[in-house]
Amino acid sequence: MNSEHTIQMDAPVGETRLDRNVQAVIGRGVDRMEGPLKVSGKATYAYENLHGKQVAYGYVVTSGIGAGKIKLIDTMKALGMAGVLHVVTDETGPRAAADPGDEKPASIKGEVTHFGQPIALVVAESFEIARAAARLVEVEYAPSEGVYSLDDAKAKAFDPGEGTMPSIVKKGDFAKAFDEAAVKFDQTYTTPSQSHSAMEPHAAVAVWEGEDLTLYGCYQLVQTNVGQLAAALGIDKARIRMRNPYIGGGFGGKLGIGPEAVFAALAAKETGRAVKIALTRQQVYQATSRRTDTVQRIRIGADENGVISAIAHDTLCGNTPGDKVFEPAGISTVFLYGGENRLITHRLSAVNVILSSSMRAPGEAVGMLALENAMDELAEQLDIDPIELRKRNEPAVDPQEGLPFSSRMLIECMDEGARRFAWADRSTTPGLRREGEWLIGMGMSAASRKNLLQKSSARVTLSAEGTALVETDMTDIGTGTYTILQQIAAEMLGLPLEKVTVKLGDSTLPPAPGSGGSWGASSSGSSVYAACEGIVGTLAEKMGVDAAELTLKDGTAIGGNRQTALTDLLAGEPLVVLGNFKPGKAFEDTHQASYGAHFCEVAVNAVTGETRIRRLLTVAAAGRILNEKTATSQCYGGQIFGIGSALTEELVIDPRTGLIVNHDLAEYHVPVNADVPQLEVVLLPERDLAASPLASKGIGELALSGVGAAISNAIYNATGVRLRDYPMTLDKVL
Ligand code: MOS
Repeated sequence: MNSEHTIQMDAPVGETRLDRNVQAVIGRGVDRMEGPLKVSGKATYAYENLHGKQVAYGYVVTSGIGAGKIKLIDTMKALGMAGVLHVVTDETGPRAAADPGDEKPASIKGEVTHFGQPIALVVAESFEIARAAARLVEVEYAPSEGVYSLDDAKAKAFDPGEGTMPSIVKKGDFAKAFDEAAVKFDQTYTTPSQSHSAMEPHAAVAVWEGEDLTLYGCYQLVQTNVGQLAAALGIDKARIRMRNPYIGGGFGGKLGIGPEAVFAALAAKETGRAVKIALTRQQVYQATSRRTDTVQRIRIGADENGVISAIAHDTLCGNTPGDKVFEPAGISTVFLYGGENRLITHRLSAVNVILSSSMRAPGEAVGMLALENAMDELAEQLDIDPIELRKRNEPAVDPQEGLPFSSRMLIECMDEGARRFAWADRSTTPGLRREGEWLIGMGMSAASRKNLLQKSSARVTLSAEGTALVETDMTDIGTGTYTILQQIAAEMLGLPLEKVTVKLGDSTLPPAPGSGGSWGASSSGSSVYAACEGIVGTLAEKMGVDAAELTLKDGTAIGGNRQTALTDLLAGEPLVVLGNFKPGKAFEDTHQASYGAHFCEVAVNAVTGETRIRRLLTVAAAGRILNEKTATSQCYGGQIFGIGSALTEELVIDPRTGLIVNHDLAEYHVPVNADVPQLEVVLLPERDLAASPLASKGIGELALSGVGAAISNAIYNATGVRLRDYPMTLDKVL
């Protein structure tokens, strides 16, 4: 039997089947269902699809100037090489698509907007031939003067208008209140360009059957990505099947399709072969996207007790000419602390540097580096404990719109963290604790990440044999989607975990919003929940009881003093339900965010300036935790990301050419094991009844939000050196 069940979240949820947890799988830290496939090499990533003679290989040619025009691309020599099949030149190649909203990856005819821009593709019988022939493609440029730094571009900064948040958010009269405040704080912080640096480089394999294209990709948002590809190729979306069941990390760098997707499709069409493209590591850095560098000014006016009356956060960031996507760095400043007078602004400058786009916790990740550093500075200025200062500015409702918070456990997270970390032992005077050459310090920061929710669909089939299949075009970028969807279905249907199979990452399956913005678990999980509710309803009818009185456990239905095996109840007829989830009034009428607190202890070498992190604790509250293990792993990832932001990660851009100088993992320093201490993550029990039918909120990006500031505040506490220019490399500490 086929049916449909829709949940629109118009009111907070009451007690649900998940609260009963009769299978005891919701929340449990079960291993990833696809883990064994991944560690044994059996999980097929994009580039590993299709083999043999049908396959040709593409190598992307990128621009050798940072700004200007292409006069001519001479492909004669490349085409003359044995084994070369074709060269795609559209004068310029397709650029990467930016954000979910960026439906049209524009190819700007003949214009070079940044160094490393894809401009052609060589297709050959082997990767090696394609790479060699790519060197023979001769490009004649008419270079123009480029602008390669935010500093050079700032005079022409403009208001980018509405993005993922409005560019300007204000309330009251900031200038007046700041002017009249007894205590004033005004500092500027800078953060560098960063690269997502996912382990799996961008890759695509395209194959046509007549007018129908199958694209094996590595992208986070299947529906959006199909739309982007269709727009780029000028074909109907219905002609494209995108498959990406396994993705080797994304972090926002794969929210949009990359140039390889469009190139692979064009080349496959032209050659009649399947075409494989993987960007080289250098090309991932130069030809996909980055996080913009920022200049952030924080101004706070407060009374002598630290109660804020005025708060302002002004951000300058950059993007390629013509692109309006800005880093919403002020997003947490909108709601984290009280204060009647508020001003949050974002300005954008055009720079001839690779597209800047969403990177893990876009907004908070760098905005809170500034805000939470500023709060630490203000606490010191007022001689108030940093946790106490935050408590004094805890708003009762969202200070901008006046909406109630759906749930907010910031204070609980700070208190629990302080207790576990022995925060009270901190020396309040910096530079006093010393162990030989090492100066020891402690710092903390708040964490907050706006909760996002999207509509989503999933199909759940309860087979006549008593197994379940969950199908949706949701993705798993290494975060645990497969596993939590399996857990939700197992609990809802009363099945052991191993009886539930999950299929993801195929555009022919019911549409999900994909992985981005930490909305995935709640959104796609709620659609699986909806489908299961539909099945439960039908089973209850078959049993002749109310759904509320039906218990599903170990493959049986229990109700009305009877226990029946599901297989008997189904009598050969599978149940198939399409579950749809839509955010509704419950979401709109509350302010939703996840909260946490970070605590860090560092040792800074007084001779070399080197910082070693000794302890890092994150306490987080994000509604119901669906799987303690995968949620904790997400938080570890955030903490490590934060270590990189605070101490090592920075794209270095040559101010003369726009070349990203450190365009590989050898020179762009993401933290390695030796940089990361034993991490501690504590998840506080919480239910957010307005956030989703699962009572869960996003957690993936929360642990990154603020953590770098806890590290920089610890460096200050250790050394007495206040750094405002991230990353805090040893040359700056000395
Ligand atoms: Mo998210 S910006 O896709 O990590």
